[in-house]
Amino acid sequence: MAKTPKCIGILTSGGDCPGLNAAIRGVAKAALHHGIRVVGIQDGFRGLVENRTVALDARTVSGILTLGGTLLGTSRDKPHKMDMGGKIMDMTDVALANAQKLQIDCLVALGGNGTQKNSLRLAKQGLPVVTLPKTIDNDVWGTDISFGFDTALGIATEAIDRLHTTATSHHRIIVCEIMGHSAGWLALGSGIAGGADAILIPEIPYRIEAVAEHLEQRRRTGRRFSIIAVAEGALSEEEAAARRESAEEEDSDDPPMPALAKVKKKKKKGGEEESLWTSTEEGRPLVHEPMASRIAREVQQLTGVEARVTSLGHVQRGGGPSAADRLLCTRLGTAATEMILDGGSDCMMAVKGTEIVPVPLKETAGKTKTVPADHEWIRTAQLVETCMGR
Ligand code: F6P
Repeated sequence: MAKTPKCIGILTSGGDCPGLNAAIRGVAKAALHHGIRVVGIQDGFRGLVENRTVALDARTVSGILTLGGTLLGTSRDKPHKMDMGGKIMDMTDVALANAQKLQIDCLVALGGNGTQKNSLRLAKQGLPVVTLPKTIDNDVWGTDISFGFDTALGIATEAIDRLHTTATSHHRIIVCEIMGHSAGWLALGSGIAGGADAILIPEIPYRIEAVAEHLEQRRRTGRRFSIIAVAEGALSEEEAAARRESAEEEDSDDPPMPALAKVKKKKKKGGEEESLWTSTEEGRPLVHEPMASRIAREVQQLTGVEARVTSLGHVQRGGGPSAADRLLCTRLGTAATEMILDGGSDCMMAVKGTEIVPVPLKETAGKTKTVPADHEWIRTAQLVETCMGR
């Protein structure tokens, strides 16, 4: 971008999360402060292809700091593979032409891993892009933290706190399913913060017998309830081995979780459009049992103790952002605008320690930040007697 920017486009893409509006506000207020026009693009990359926009002025971006969701709407659509009335089409050229028509000098895309990939594709075709890392999963590569994570961490932790009191009263096991896609950050963080007795994450395939033995040990020592925090993408040792054998690449905004990957494969091979809930010829459901139900069923069988299930689901993505997320979103948003003003683009504004720094999109795109095996949080959990599934 050689010339001084006159117009910034903003879109939000992928699953929503608390803090999107705060980040939109940060980008837009800083831009307006410098006399730069701001165009809001509706429903992610689809809005760019369909040319659906709203002008973001001082009035529109006022009073949105604390609001959940995204005022622009979002979608998981990608320009190069977009469903256009039932037909999957490459709409990249249309997206680029519309950006030109709108006189957008730089696009700011707020999103997760899929958004980094889609943004890099557009950047390679000549549209300057700056991205911000958004996801409750905290799995965007190249940043210490993504916005939305802190809020979801608080929600999941509060849920575990509440499950403690009722589990204690009834001397039960309660299994709490936590989002995170194929990364365990949210389950691990909230499990530690909420004092879960077992935490199961995708990065550490579990052995159900080890989990049951830990719960029995607690009972033998007078603790008659237990809480298991399980990541939605957790998998057993057997599943991990099977997955290694049939590893498949999927080019989606969020690639399928291990348990679902096989189901999608079956659907493709079968040709016909099958409901995810239909049974196979052997009578088994195509969709795997939800993770928490499976864990509850298995530990109840092994321990003989009543086990119940709570799945937090989209509650973790709803509502307004925490104070930490509001601060982060405002810092990231304003930093993106300053980057554009300085002529920079094709990067993600990332958190590194106490700083906000640009990371080239070609470095972040296509990578996922999962929990490293030697991460300090894992050791921390183990030192406070939490079973990590082994
Ligand atoms: O990426 C955020 C996330 O909430 C994941 O934790 C979860 O697997 C997925 O999105 C759910 O997606 P959807 O809202 O499309 O069901």
